[in-house]
Amino acid sequence: MTRDAPATVLRVTGLTKGFFGVPVLQDVALELRAGEVHGLVGENGAGKSTLMKLLAGVHQRDAGTVELDGRPVEFSHPTQAHVAGLSTVFQEFNLLPERTVAENVYLGREPRRGPLVDRRAMNAQTTELLAQLGIDSIRATAAVGTLSVAQQQIVEIAKAISYDARIISMDEPTAALAGAEVELLYGIVRRLKERGTAILYVSHRLKEIFDLCDTITVLKDGRVVDTRPSRELDDAALVRLMVGRPISAYFPDELPGTAPGEDLLEISGAGNEQLDSITLTLRGGEIVGLAGLQGSGRTELVEAVFGAQPFTRGRMRLDGTAYAPTSPRQAVKRRVALITEDRKAQGLSLNQSILDNALGVIRSVFPGRTAAARAATPGALASLEVAARDLDQEVQYLSGGNQQKVVLAKWLAIDPRVVLLDEPTRGIDVGAKVAVYRLMRQLAAEGKAILMVSSELPEVLGMSGRVLVMRDGRIAGELPAGATEEQVLQLATGARTGEAAS
Ligand SMILES: Nc1ncnc2c1ncn2[C@@H]1O[C@H](COP(=O)(O)OP(=O)(O)OP(=O)(O)O)[C@@H](O)[C@H]1O
Ligand SMILES: [Mg+2]
Repeated sequence: MTRDAPATVLRVTGLTKGFFGVPVLQDVALELRAGEVHGLVGENGAGKSTLMKLLAGVHQRDAGTVELDGRPVEFSHPTQAHVAGLSTVFQEFNLLPERTVAENVYLGREPRRGPLVDRRAMNAQTTELLAQLGIDSIRATAAVGTLSVAQQQIVEIAKAISYDARIISMDEPTAALAGAEVELLYGIVRRLKERGTAILYVSHRLKEIFDLCDTITVLKDGRVVDTRPSRELDDAALVRLMVGRPISAYFPDELPGTAPGEDLLEISGAGNEQLDSITLTLRGGEIVGLAGLQGSGRTELVEAVFGAQPFTRGRMRLDGTAYAPTSPRQAVKRRVALITEDRKAQGLSLNQSILDNALGVIRSVFPGRTAAARAATPGALASLEVAARDLDQEVQYLSGGNQQKVVLAKWLAIDPRVVLLDEPTRGIDVGAKVAVYRLMRQLAAEGKAILMVSSELPEVLGMSGRVLVMRDGRIAGELPAGATEEQVLQLATGARTGEAAS
């Protein structure tokens, strides 16, 4: 082992960027070393994605220098950055779904034999790249569109290493992943690190930042607040740097006067292709957690209640009358809302204004109530702390986390009776998470029933009055408030209580 610090591969100084005269990054300095995983954290809109896009050549900087291996570089297109050894895995992938994995990896620089693409070589090289990442479950000849989000991400990473990237930046790479897939990504990051690749890693999940990163840089309002070795920080210290104040009561207490009221939603003996024997009751004023492993049926359950993948057996009652939605529209008519983390599927219209998006559902389902909702929207967005210049701004210019808050506002505009939440805090920063938790408490105090799916156990346990745990499309059991993560996992995996782990 040598005690010399590994070589600096990327040095950024004085980096400055504004959009429409509004400064987004100011005088940012950053250094990445070979084999270092460097976390980049900050609130929604702090400028993390913009920094990555500047490094990748998607946007051009207004001022500052970027040096790769000591040489100044200026990229006007991501391909130039790729070729120079700097690759970026954006949250929204740039893959062509109808093409194969190998075609995507080697797009535009396919190995050739004479005038023809040498498919055999291309496939073999792709398989080899995937093997370097420890992956043998993705075929080079599979169409990218048939792969899971996690697998597509791996294809992006394979593409990065095919360019022999010495620097890979990843923008919220686990935002769409869960459980085993997150582990897979961890493994890949560690492998890249061993190869000496420098990694710039953006995430809102502090656990991940501490698990993976050697160094952490905190951005706030476009400026670097601090860069520190991660071992010098803990959750509380990091949050204070990000938010500028300590956050007390991460999971806020129930509001006074909240009490489970009458039964709002009753499901009995319901099922469909993915679900079976679903029986549960949600009362007004309660927050119920829905835990379980990836694929256990949590999302399918909330989608069935929302009419997106209807139940084909059993029955539901809402507010005492029969409820059997066969489309989300019917569910919305009964004032049931489903808020998921998937902004694209939620149909945010990126080139429309914040206001138009926030009014999207109410306009189409309850047109008569649009005017009232319009009047309430600025307040609703402000309470979610949406950081935007004005409500006429197009949603595409908002940061990812702020887009998510617009999704919340859009569903809350219908004044739902039952609020189904599927991973509601993915991609949103710590401060905003606490705002969402407070909002959930508020909704409960107003007598709404809340069912929340989350893969983050501390969140489920911290917010729920009781937790339903799913396994194999059924409800495996129910736990009261105060249950432990271990109890949830036992139910989720079917491990028998008291059995020694061996
Ligand atoms: N193309 C653009 N045009 C105008 N403004 C933009 C553009 N891209 C980003 N911004 C603004 O720059 C700021 C920083 O956004 P950025 O996406 O870098 O934040 P972020 O730190 O990645 O946030 P998040 O955690 O929510 O993803 C935001 O105020 C955003 O609205
Ligand atoms: Mg971002």
